[in-house]
Amino acid sequence: MRHLIDFGDLSRQEWEELYARAERIMDAPERHLDVCRGKVMASLFYEPSTRTNFSFQTAMLRLGGTVFGFADPSSSSVAKGETLKDTVKMVSGYADVVVMRTPWEGAAKAASLYSDVPVVNAGDGGHMHPTQTTADLTTITRLRGGVDGLSVGLCGDLKNGRTVHSLIKALAKFDGIRFFLIAPRDLAIPEYLRQFMRERKMPFLEVAGLEPVIPQLDVLYMTRIQRERFVDPLEYERNKGVYILTRSKLSRAKENLLVMHPLPRVDEIAVDVDDDPRAVYFQQARYGMFARMALLADLANQPRRAPAPVEAGHGPVCRNPRCITQTERYLPPLVKRTGGAECCAFCDAPL
Ligand code: NCD
Repeated sequence: MRHLIDFGDLSRQEWEELYARAERIMDAPERHLDVCRGKVMASLFYEPSTRTNFSFQTAMLRLGGTVFGFADPSSSSVAKGETLKDTVKMVSGYADVVVMRTPWEGAAKAASLYSDVPVVNAGDGGHMHPTQTTADLTTITRLRGGVDGLSVGLCGDLKNGRTVHSLIKALAKFDGIRFFLIAPRDLAIPEYLRQFMRERKMPFLEVAGLEPVIPQLDVLYMTRIQRERFVDPLEYERNKGVYILTRSKLSRAKENLLVMHPLPRVDEIAVDVDDDPRAVYFQQARYGMFARMALLADLANQPRRAPAPVEAGHGPVCRNPRCITQTERYLPPLVKRTGGAECCAFCDAPL
């Protein structure tokens, strides 16, 4: 692995190696204090974050490395109109690994084209969030002993929730996963992911109601309605508060259900659920730190390498208004095929 942009790029074996390393670290953190000694992580957060930013920082510090960066781009030259390419080229000269979160879809992929060091996607708009997925899979594996054969309910804003998009990509690497996609019609899963699941013959059922399916689930992954991604504020108003998991709704769930949430929560999980032993979202956040330690131990120790020249690209220009190609005009129109369809190689939108 050179970069972590999309969890789909990892093989199952690469994931298993990453998980094994995360377990070794969590079982004996004192043996890993020097793994990144002398290494420097750049942390470029163009969007708000608590867990992801802090867990990456603490992960690097616990491995003996150091961290610099910004959590608010208005304090950097981005505010003067610097391009992503120039920021990344320069930062990758200072750091051994670059972690970035942006509101633009495909930005981490774009950055990886120009970086001399590994780039980690810490969330690119409503598109992907692969390191949250490492937290999620670490939690499931640690608490359930494995991931194969589980019935997984994904609930909430499946249209804009990047954590669920990454998780679906990742769960394609396991056997016998069944999805229950629980969302209002306005916030249903993007078509490219429906296509992705069909191609891989992953069974999924799209439903609007949470309660009827709860008894069947092994994992219930709740998500926040992603207010900041709505173009139409009325659409947000229509959909906010649509799912609220309460203690009483959990009464019909399996005894060993895992209730997960990437956090932050707004109101989709009532506070009284926190004391139920099935609620594992705070543990999940801590496992995320160990998963990120495992990732940094690998990536920050890779040799610096100039990227290959960027190909010219001859596809149609992506029309997704949130795609990085809309704001960074020098990017080539790169195309990839998902199933029969041509998609933007940065944001996955159908072309
Ligand atoms: C998520 C994100 O930023 O996408 N948070 C996180 O990284 N733990 C989920 C969210 O913001 O709803």
